[in-house]
Amino acid sequence: EKGGYEHFMLKEIFEQPRSIADSMRGRVRADEAHLQLGGLRNYLDKLADSKRIVIIGCGTSWHAGLVAEYLFEELARINVEVEYASEFRYRNPIIKENDIVIAISQSGETADTLAAIELAKSKGAIIFGVCNVVGSSIARATHAGAYTHAGPEIGVASTKAFTAQVTVLAIMALAAAQRKGTISEELYRQLLIELENIPDKVEEVLQSAAKIKEIAFIFTYARNFIYLGRGLNFPVALEGALKLKEISYIHAEGYPAAEMKHGPIALIDEDMPVVFLATKDSSYDKIVSNIQEVKARKGRVIAIVTAGDTLIPTMVDFVIEIPKTHEMLMPLLSVIPLQLLSYYVAVMRGRNVDQPRNLAKSVTVE
Ligand code: M6R
Repeated sequence: EKGGYEHFMLKEIFEQPRSIADSMRGRVRADEAHLQLGGLRNYLDKLADSKRIVIIGCGTSWHAGLVAEYLFEELARINVEVEYASEFRYRNPIIKENDIVIAISQSGETADTLAAIELAKSKGAIIFGVCNVVGSSIARATHAGAYTHAGPEIGVASTKAFTAQVTVLAIMALAAAQRKGTISEELYRQLLIELENIPDKVEEVLQSAAKIKEIAFIFTYARNFIYLGRGLNFPVALEGALKLKEISYIHAEGYPAAEMKHGPIALIDEDMPVVFLATKDSSYDKIVSNIQEVKARKGRVIAIVTAGDTLIPTMVDFVIEIPKTHEMLMPLLSVIPLQLLSYYVAVMRGRNVDQPRNLAKSVTVE
């Protein structure tokens, strides 16, 4: 059942070209500049008209929510708040009648997320679900939603569910933006074409596996890691750090790169590996100066860069190239090397990758 792979996690990482394509199937038609999300058909106006979206989730699903915050705000100009389900449910959150809540959950069984939905519902919110498991408790508790079609995810560390979530949330944001008229016809078309090209580009990223394995070998016994990114790559930094913690048990922190000088920079020395998400996008120049700050303190830098970048490779210790795409979709590519890096480090440390200690695949108790 592992399809020839040593672990489910590796199989699931390599399945992503397909699971992303499956999550778009029947929904994205770039040639006709057309999108449709069957499950949201009757709610699209409400989504486009909403003044506020609250996104709830836990762990990796919460990270997908942070990516969606950028997407909905930038494309559909809707105010978004992203909340840990566990915090949201124990506050007295302000929910107005036309607020939309989007609950993200791979398993559809996470206790805190389910309880947060019930609370928001009791206050009159409309709830959309983005779940992977059909018929799960969360899918049933929502008013509407769109499934991710990632297929069963067995590894405790979430990989293909994350990219499927981001895919579906991007489609939702694009659909809302088009309905609202906040996106130009040209950008809309461009993003649909870019979306359709993502599976092939993920396939390209996966070809760097051997190189990433070599980097993992060099850093197998690191005691700490820092992951830095800006914009849409900031949630990816958090996700990369979470993956490493979960399966290798190495302490790792993800930060927005600009926050580094507000504290974490004190940690940088020649023993500190720093993973930079440094793709060519609107924050490229800023990231370049953050890399300089780390190198000036002898940090060891692994940079995820856009193919063809000639500057960053001269500055850092290791580079992993990924193909170009539109900035809005970059997390779908930039997360892949981080999944592989954590996987190989964990394997080299002899960890139980698919079932790390102390963790369960779905957290059905609070
Ligand atoms: O099934 P869910 O998406 O609701 O699960 C949420 C988290 O428990 C989950 O993402 C967890 O953080 C993963 N182990 C991350 O790899």
